[in-house]
Amino acid sequence: MCGIIGYCGHRPAVPIVLEGLEHLEYRGYDSAGVGYVLNSELQVVRAKGKLKNLSEKFQQERNALTVTCAIGHTRWATHGVPEERNAHPHLSNSKRLAIVHNGIIENYLEIREELLQKSYRFASDTDSEVLVNLIEDRLAEEHDLLHALSAALQLAHGAYAICLLDRDDPNKLYAARLSAPLIFGRGIGENFIASDIPAFLAYTRDVIFLEDGDILVADSQNYTLWRSSDLNEIQRPAQQIQWNMQAAQKGGYRHFMLKEIFEQPKVISDALSGRLDDGRVLLPELDALPVPKRLHIIACGTSFHAGLWGQHLIEDWARIPVQVEIASEFRYKERLLLDPEQDMVLVISQSGETADTLAALRMAKELHVPTLGLCNVLGSSMAREAGAVLYTQAGPEISVASTKAMTSQMIMLACLALYYGRRSLTLADDDIRRHLERLQRLPLMLETALPEMHSMARQLARKYAQAKSFFYLGRGHCFSLALEGALKLKELSYIHAEGYAAGEMKHGPIALIDPSFPTFVLAPRDDLYEKIKSNIVEIQSRQGQIIVLTNAESDLHSVDIWRIPALQGPLTAFLLLPCLQLFSYEMADYLGKDVDQPRNLAKSVTVE
Ligand code: M6R
Repeated sequence: MCGIIGYCGHRPAVPIVLEGLEHLEYRGYDSAGVGYVLNSELQVVRAKGKLKNLSEKFQQERNALTVTCAIGHTRWATHGVPEERNAHPHLSNSKRLAIVHNGIIENYLEIREELLQKSYRFASDTDSEVLVNLIEDRLAEEHDLLHALSAALQLAHGAYAICLLDRDDPNKLYAARLSAPLIFGRGIGENFIASDIPAFLAYTRDVIFLEDGDILVADSQNYTLWRSSDLNEIQRPAQQIQWNMQAAQKGGYRHFMLKEIFEQPKVISDALSGRLDDGRVLLPELDALPVPKRLHIIACGTSFHAGLWGQHLIEDWARIPVQVEIASEFRYKERLLLDPEQDMVLVISQSGETADTLAALRMAKELHVPTLGLCNVLGSSMAREAGAVLYTQAGPEISVASTKAMTSQMIMLACLALYYGRRSLTLADDDIRRHLERLQRLPLMLETALPEMHSMARQLARKYAQAKSFFYLGRGHCFSLALEGALKLKELSYIHAEGYAAGEMKHGPIALIDPSFPTFVLAPRDDLYEKIKSNIVEIQSRQGQIIVLTNAESDLHSVDIWRIPALQGPLTAFLLLPCLQLFSYEMADYLGKDVDQPRNLAKSVTVE
């Protein structure tokens, strides 16, 4: 939810930390701050709002350029309104320690109460300021900061990724993680700590993913990893990141979102790469596991919609009954009806760090049910904890609104359906070949179609930008896309939108239709086409305006037809989805909204 970075090395640290924060801003952008030691005193410079407000403050802080160790934070508010006083870093009462923190300390009120009794005072409403004072309090009992940190972390419950600076040892970083991502970047004569790799990728590709319960202490030359509970030293080899900085930059596009939409043909090729061989899908990660009798797909947001779409294919092609559930609901079920012999839990997450989805994964593991993670981020918590992992290979997704990640998840779900279809003999070899041939045609088809899709999206956005509400309708596999279309429109343009199964309209929602309430209908030519045409006519009879996204030679009148290339079957979704994304993108851009960083959101929801 928040982005944290720490740098210790031979270069001016503040510009590196500010640059790193730019790459982390997608994680939260209510306020930001930087901390460092100058003339034996801890300094914090913080600003409400976006990072540029903080950068402007540094125009007046020329002395800050001399320091070579600093920490920084970009915030998505959990405790306390987005004001400067709640921005990080937070100082301990004696001003010896400064902390940046991502996560939530659940018992912070009790700890705060105890500290108040010991005369500690708090300048913010945050749990983070409580934590830094708890560490300071432990310093009085323990003989050094490492032991004090370890002792404090035994008392703090919840989730955290933290980075600490010590005024009395100003060229050292202390970091720790529990249920929130934190990565160590190992450079030459310089070291980094950050919530995500792009923050330091310009400087090093050598990384160590911190695991839950780790503490890391680093200066510019050395680092040591400890187990927080008993301070035993840990050896963990570094890994090499394969992608480069270009993948995390806009590459000439106006926004990351637009770039990521246009990357989708390549994303499809990359997800398929190494997965197809002689008319078969290869998923060696699953070969040792039995074909499940029932599959439970658990996810949040866009990943949940990908799961709903995958349900159709897995049920249809592999004949495995699938239940798809929102992680925040699944995790609080009083009784989970899961059977380790029959069931499998598939968790889907772009980031691999979504708190609710991880909680669902852990519950399934406790019941000894086989678990499979579908995620994008290498080394994420999901990737480490799931029994088996399928990586979606979409590359870094920076825009807060998820686009290419969903496409990559859907490709892997299609592969899963074909893989299980073959193993359970519910698909004939010829059927598999036919589907694979269509999958392989997708990258070129989409690449050719995208410019035309973009210009149609632009035209329609200008016509519909004044709408206050929108319906998105679909049937069958297109219902999940309708939900996704509505989510994209609301999160980007702040226009109210609802996705509905088209057949449900007449059970209530149609009452809302009037000339100012448009409907976006997904109507590919398939078995349900005639049904959805009837729904369109019903809306027309109530003077509703309609956009029809279709690959059929339509005989519909008085609607805005948006025609896409013809492809048979549910893989048409790979041509429908980019249209929905582009429409929302253009609506938001036309309305002057912040496309890559919509209000109130953050990319990775690592808190409940
Ligand atoms: O990283 P995840 O896939 O687990 O994230 C799930 C949702 O938070 C995410 O899809 C969210 O809904 C996006 N803002 C959608 O664009």
